[in-house]
Amino acid sequence: MLVGWGGNNGSTFTAALLANRLGLDWETKTGRHSPNWYGSLTQASTVRLGYSASGREVHCPFPALLPMVHPDDIVVGGWDISSVDLGAAMERARVVDIDLQRRLRPYMDKLHPRPSIYFPDFIAANQADRVDNLLEGSKWEQLKTIRRDIRSFKMENNLDKVIVMWTANTERFSQVIEGVNDTADNLLGAIKTGHAEVSPSTLFAVASILEGFTYINGSPQNTFVPGCLELAEREGVFVGGDDFKSGQTKLKSVLVDFLVSAGIKPVSIVSYNHLGNNDGKNLSAPHQFKSKEISKSRVIDDMVSSNNILYKAGEKIDHIVVIKYVPYVGDSKRAMDEYVSEIMLGGHNTLAIHNTCEDSLLAAPIMLDLIVLAELASRITFKRADNSAEGDAADYCNFHPILSILSYMCKAPLVPPGNSLSRI
Ligand SMILES: NC(=O)c1ccc[n+]([C@@H]2O[C@H](COP(=O)([O-])OP(=O)(O)OC[C@H]3O[C@@H](n4cnc5c(N)ncnc54)[C@H](O)[C@@H]3O)[C@@H](O)[C@H]2O)c1
Repeated sequence: MLVGWGGNNGSTFTAALLANRLGLDWETKTGRHSPNWYGSLTQASTVRLGYSASGREVHCPFPALLPMVHPDDIVVGGWDISSVDLGAAMERARVVDIDLQRRLRPYMDKLHPRPSIYFPDFIAANQADRVDNLLEGSKWEQLKTIRRDIRSFKMENNLDKVIVMWTANTERFSQVIEGVNDTADNLLGAIKTGHAEVSPSTLFAVASILEGFTYINGSPQNTFVPGCLELAEREGVFVGGDDFKSGQTKLKSVLVDFLVSAGIKPVSIVSYNHLGNNDGKNLSAPHQFKSKEISKSRVIDDMVSSNNILYKAGEKIDHIVVIKYVPYVGDSKRAMDEYVSEIMLGGHNTLAIHNTCEDSLLAAPIMLDLIVLAELASRITFKRADNSAEGDAADYCNFHPILSILSYMCKAPLVPPGNSLSRI
């Protein structure tokens, strides 16, 4: 179930799911196309198994490694503060090719987002004009409605499991306040009294956790305040995030890893973005931009701390991120990066990269991977080698509720308190 189902990512993900399941072909001026899941680790990558008897390298499709949910078996639903059906949402997003939109319309027009929770203070004021699908009542009543929605969606569609994923607008950060959202009990108490600092995304996370279903945060805000994480641990429910890692940041994490591992020292990284979709419009407001800036900035920290030959304790890379809203480019986000690195004997290496991202077409396969891998991880149990008698099921345990295994797909990986990603 997607929160923000009627957005660019939500509608593109739904279009991809249906186009693949129904095998819908479409025409463009470059010819006939058929659907695929390019960009998905679980659907479009292979894993090297080793060598055949004749010395040939053998690769197998990623999903052949372990039993994973097939995308065709996923049913999608969700909530949006905008009431437009998914057909109209796909048209509004201007992501999917027009002929494929025509083929999808009869299916997408029938899908309607459920009313959602809207506290204007958390997203940009410029979003107000699309708000017409709201839940009434107090925070506690809204929490109960979301829990009911999850239960009824599961029952109506005869599902084994539900995963709830936030792909709605980036919110501002919530303040973490002692006595309000610092512990699980305080957070539940704050929802009961309707405290202003409990965000819509935290309410969705709490609803999902209390229903026992995994919750994934695809945006950068701090949905998982300490009280929310404590609740997930207490209930033994999986949570993952934060912020889909799709375009510029994905390239940055790979490139910085490559440079630092090669003994080259990045000293300045400057990233300019401009985009014209609704996400860009929301991020043009300072508080929402701040959430994204923090998430995008964290991506290089672990690499710097991994190499104490290049970087002294406390030394930092000059790292700047700029995001501007330019409506004309729509979903085709432009990301321009300059990487300056120190090389031998005072030399410098400068890389300038221009990346046209097609944001939602990059994000939708990552959403699928997060769902498939979170579901898989929820079925894995393991035991440590030093544990007692082999085969004793009592020794097996689940992953930690904070699913850091999903970090590859997230910009600001969520890890258990007191851990860093490199230790996981
Ligand atoms: N490549 C990418 O597209 C990418 C990468 C990383 C992160 N993200 C994040 O994913 C999120 C979604 O991106 P998008 O391009 O689909 O944005 P979008 O603006 O097109 O869609 C967001 C949707 O959320 C809805 N919404 C807002 N608040 C809501 C609430 N409280 N409850 C229910 N619905 C609500 C809006 O009406 C809108 O339909 C953004 O936060 C973005 O920063 C996107």
